[in-house]
Amino acid sequence: MTKFRHHLRRVERKQFAYLNQPKTIRLQNAERINDFRQDVWGEFIRSISQDDIRLYPESDLLYQKIGNIYDISTSKILIGAGSDQIIRCVIETFVEPDTCVITSDPCFAMFEVYSIIYQGKLVKIPYYGYYIDIDMIIDSINNETNLVIISNPNSPVGDAITEEKIISLCRVAAKYDVTVVIDEAYIEFSQYRSVIPLINQFSNLVVLRTFSKAWGSAGVRCGYAVSSVENIELMKKTVPMVDLSALTIKWISCILDHDWLMYDYVKEVKENKQWALNHFGYNHEVHDTDCNWIYVNMRHIGKSQFTNYSFCYLNPDYAYRFSTLPWRKEDEEWIRLCIPTNLQLLQNMIILK
Ligand SMILES: Cc1ncc(COP(=O)(O)O)c(C=O)c1O
Repeated sequence: MTKFRHHLRRVERKQFAYLNQPKTIRLQNAERINDFRQDVWGEFIRSISQDDIRLYPESDLLYQKIGNIYDISTSKILIGAGSDQIIRCVIETFVEPDTCVITSDPCFAMFEVYSIIYQGKLVKIPYYGYYIDIDMIIDSINNETNLVIISNPNSPVGDAITEEKIISLCRVAAKYDVTVVIDEAYIEFSQYRSVIPLINQFSNLVVLRTFSKAWGSAGVRCGYAVSSVENIELMKKTVPMVDLSALTIKWISCILDHDWLMYDYVKEVKENKQWALNHFGYNHEVHDTDCNWIYVNMRHIGKSQFTNYSFCYLNPDYAYRFSTLPWRKEDEEWIRLCIPTNLQLLQNMIILK
C-alpha cells in the first residue's frame, strides 16, 4: 500500500442505498416527494440554453438574490454544492489538528466525518430523550475548543433550541475565540425563526442553509453560509475553483423568484403532519418534531407491519434501516415518517391494508 493519511481509517461512511423502483418513497432523506408545478418547471426549462453546458457558470446573480433575502452584502455569503460542502469548508477553515469540535450526540453524520478528516477531537454532548442540554455544550467550551457545530432544528432528533440559547452560546464561545456553526437545514419547518440576523451581533457565528429540504431541491446540490466578511473570506480559500453548476444556478434562481412555492410547501407539510399526528396519535405513541417528519411507535403492531402501512411503495429493508430512531437501541420499534404534501399519498401510506 502506498503512503496515505492513516487517520482516515477512523472515518466511517454510511452507504447510501437508493431504490430503483419508480414508485418508491424514500423516507430516509426528508426529500420533497411531489413534483413542482408545471408552470414553474416550464419556466426553468425555457431558461436553459447550450451556454449552460459549454461555459463556466457565473454565480453573481444568485449571490445577489440570496443577499436580497436578508438585506446583506454578498461578501457575507458563501454558496456551495449543498450545505454538506459548506460544512466541510467550515471545518477545514476553523479546525486545526488536535483542537476540539463540540457537537451533539446524535448529530448530522458529516459533522463527525469532516472533523475526523481534519483531525479535530470530537466532543459529543449527549441527548437526554428528545432534548439537548445546551448549557452542557456551553460548559464544555474551553481553550482547546475551536468549533461548536450543531444543527437547529437538530437532525435526526428534530428538536429546536431558542434564539436566547444560541445567543448565550455565541457569547461564551466568543470569549474563547471559538466559532459557532448553526446548521439551519430544517429551519423553515421550525417554530423558531432563523438566527441569520445575529451575524451582525456575533462575528464568531456562521449560519448554514440549504435548498435541499423546504425548497425541495436536493438534486441540484445548493446550500450556503452566512457570516462576517472575515469568516467568509477565510472560508472561500478552501472551496473548489468552480463548485456550482450552471443548471443549479438557474434552478435556484428560478425557485427564489417563486418563493411562495417554498412557503406553500412548508404549510402543506405542516398541515399533513398534524393530520398524521392525529391519525397515529389515536392508537400509537407519536412524537412531533420541528422538521418535516414525525416519529411513530409501532410497538403494538410490530414493525414488520410497516410495509402494510406504507402501501406498496416502500421496500421494508430500507424502511427498517433508515427509519429507526438512530440514537437509541431500545427504541427500535420507532419509525421516522417523512411527511409528503400530497394528503392522499399520506393517507395511502398509513392506512393499514
Ligand atoms: C442537518 C443537516 N445538515 C445538512 C444536510 C446536508 O444537506 P445538503 O443537501 O444541503 O448537503 C443535511 C441533510 O440531510 C442535514 O440533515
